[in-house]
Amino acid sequence: MEFQTRDRHTIRAVDTTSLTIPSGQFISVLGPSGCGKSTLLRMIAGLTAPTSGSVEIGGEAVAGPSRKVGIAFQTPSLLEWYTVTENIALPARMGRRRVDKRDVERRVEELLTIVNLTALGGKYPSELSGGMRQRVAIARSLITDPAVILMDEPFGALDAITREHMHDELLAIWRQSGATVLFITHDIAEAVYLSDRIVVMSPRPGRIVADVANELPRPRGTATRSLPEFTRLTSELRVHINH
Ligand SMILES: Nc1ncnc2c1ncn2[C@@H]1O[C@H](COP(=O)(O)OP(=O)(O)OP(=O)(O)O)[C@@H](O)[C@H]1O
Ligand SMILES: [Mg+2]
Repeated sequence: MEFQTRDRHTIRAVDTTSLTIPSGQFISVLGPSGCGKSTLLRMIAGLTAPTSGSVEIGGEAVAGPSRKVGIAFQTPSLLEWYTVTENIALPARMGRRRVDKRDVERRVEELLTIVNLTALGGKYPSELSGGMRQRVAIARSLITDPAVILMDEPFGALDAITREHMHDELLAIWRQSGATVLFITHDIAEAVYLSDRIVVMSPRPGRIVADVANELPRPRGTATRSLPEFTRLTSELRVHINH
């Protein structure tokens, strides 16, 4: 993926990359700032067309955004004139398929509970903290029960306790839905706690320099973080990142 800058230079954001993700896998992407992680996610989401190469989901070429793909962006882009509930429901109300209003409302309530924002459905984004806004965006990414969930550092603005709560909620959603999750993070321990597999990208132009399987037992929980394998994997990834 190459971008043209304003002064007519070409920036190669993502170098030749080949990645096959089995259906239902939880994969994390680690890499330094500016290495092309968000660009990779936007290409998978159909928001940015690669300058060469292609993206396929379930054997079909990605040509644009789809309801089957839920996205939580790096900066939660909420509509300020919509309430929390309306923001979360938005992706379910778009597109041609008719959806039952009550089904959407019920699902919004469930998601509000999951992200610990019960009773805040009527608030407007300007009344929320940064972490709350981020959790609204996470709930919104899940409203269509997507088969593919793309998350770009979704827990960056959360405090440690809320973050750990969200890890377990995300794993529960993933287990129940059978969705494929691609999760971008700077946090090695977070990647190890969550994933089946972790890929490490090089500095720009990003390419995949390591592809590491994570066989830590599931379900994961507090005890996972004190397993020797947890520490070993974390150190292994740190070596790849610093290379
Ligand atoms: N629309 C664009 N036009 C020009 N350059 C872009 C555009 N989008 C991204 N880039 C450049 O591509 C490179 C990769 O950006 P990207 O946002 O994918 O990085 P990232 O790995 O997500 O970084 P971070 O961890 O800081 O979020 C950067 O050098 C960035 O400046
Ligand atoms: Mg990014």
